[in-house]
Amino acid sequence: MKILHATAEYFPYIKMGGLSDMLASLSKEQSQNHDVSVTLPLIRGLKEKPEFTGKTIPIKLSFPEKTNPVLEILKDSCFREARKGRLKLYFFDSPLFRDLETIYGNNDEHFRFAVYSYAAFHLSQVLDTDVFHAHDWHTALAPVLQKHSPGGKPSVFTIHNLAYQGDHPLWMTGFLKEEPFLLHPEFLLHEGKTNYLKAGLLSADQITTVSPGYRKETLLDANGFGLSEALRRRSDDYTGIINGIDPEEWNPSNDIRIFERFDAKTNKEGKLKNKTELYMEIGRPLIDPNRSLVGIIGRLTYQKGYSVFLQSFQERKHLSHYYIFQGAGEKDLENPLFHLSHTEQDRIYFYKGYSEELARKIEAASDFFLMPSLFEPCGLNQLYSHAYGTIPIVSRVGGLKDTVVESSQNKYYTGIVFEPNDPSSLGYALERAETLYKNKVKFYEVRENIMRQDWGWKKRTGEYETVYKKAIAKRA
Ligand code: ADP
Ligand code: GLC
Repeated sequence: MKILHATAEYFPYIKMGGLSDMLASLSKEQSQNHDVSVTLPLIRGLKEKPEFTGKTIPIKLSFPEKTNPVLEILKDSCFREARKGRLKLYFFDSPLFRDLETIYGNNDEHFRFAVYSYAAFHLSQVLDTDVFHAHDWHTALAPVLQKHSPGGKPSVFTIHNLAYQGDHPLWMTGFLKEEPFLLHPEFLLHEGKTNYLKAGLLSADQITTVSPGYRKETLLDANGFGLSEALRRRSDDYTGIINGIDPEEWNPSNDIRIFERFDAKTNKEGKLKNKTELYMEIGRPLIDPNRSLVGIIGRLTYQKGYSVFLQSFQERKHLSHYYIFQGAGEKDLENPLFHLSHTEQDRIYFYKGYSEELARKIEAASDFFLMPSLFEPCGLNQLYSHAYGTIPIVSRVGGLKDTVVESSQNKYYTGIVFEPNDPSSLGYALERAETLYKNKVKFYEVRENIMRQDWGWKKRTGEYETVYKKAIAKRA
């Protein structure tokens, strides 16, 4: 099958969250059996230099004499081909993206991502793909174009997070009526605004999201961010597929970024060494490495439920855990964490900022990993935690509840689960973690078991193939 993915993030070039890792690991696994291409924007702030082949693909417009701002930009844009293993990458090289340091947080996203979506649609025509797979609102207009343009390709749209919809005041999106989009604004409307995500999920031949648990949640009004009705209309074409990870990329036995490599057999010494070294590195050499360490890494945003953690942290002062927290984002969350890491130095350390290397070191050093999300489409850190022998403590939502089980039998026990948005339930979970940590026989048995969990994509790429076949059949 000839597959083309369209995304705003792709590891290692552009990463703001899990979308980046998911795309890179899924496409890599798919490329073992299929002809897989990926398009992503070319920004100045790429984290790694791509291996360009020198080949470029211009954007040929059907009416070259016509002009408007979108057509002018497209005339000055092209795709630059690069290679990564068996994959072909097509970087969208355009004046709209060239000068950006970061992919999000810039003005005019409604315009930039619409033009990128058109370009991705155009690329699928040039490559003559069998299936076009778009991800999140940034590329959601591409399935709309696939449905409404002559020669459109079968399309699949994946929701990684329903909270971000690309909804813009109608007056900002008048350009969508004109060449080359020719899209009727009425069709794109939701609650008085142009909503890219909704338009994408109503147009794609198949929709997926990143866990069955999240799929179920999004069909309920309470969790659908206003789109559950639209999703219910598409429920026969809507599948939940749990994310996988790249076991070569996230593997403590070959991770050069951590202090000491280890595997399931050597986890005891390996993780202890990582913990002591990490305490040295963060300037806390006096913290007793025999105390349990709870790691927390994530975007500081409402979704992740960190305010619930802050409350239970204050309520459970008697617990002996030490916490290392890494995150960046909203000031309302950054400030109290920053404050605590000064006033409670013997209980918590906070690193404000983004660092791929520190994230690996925290995973390798921690005994537990806390994810108190209020909602979580899939979540990758609980899977990385399994790989690094770090027992996840997660709220019972979305993909977290699909991937972590607190069982009475050690062999099925893969973490600790508590009720979302409930500081007491989270506090009780931290108490259970303390009890487990003290029971060393059980603790090490669980740790070894979770390291043997297989979260690679091999088992799950077939589920995407089934969805692709359905999309193709629907179009035929
Ligand atoms: P989301 O995509 O909602 O942010 P995921 O759990 O799917 O959540 O993925 C988050 C990814 O981003 C993980 O790989 C995590 O380690 C990484 N990450 C988040 N914040 C940081 C940070 N401050 N520094 C390094 N990595 C981070
Ligand atoms: C989103 C979700 C996260 C998911 C990731 C990759 O950012 O918030 O739960 O793991 O996408 O699919």
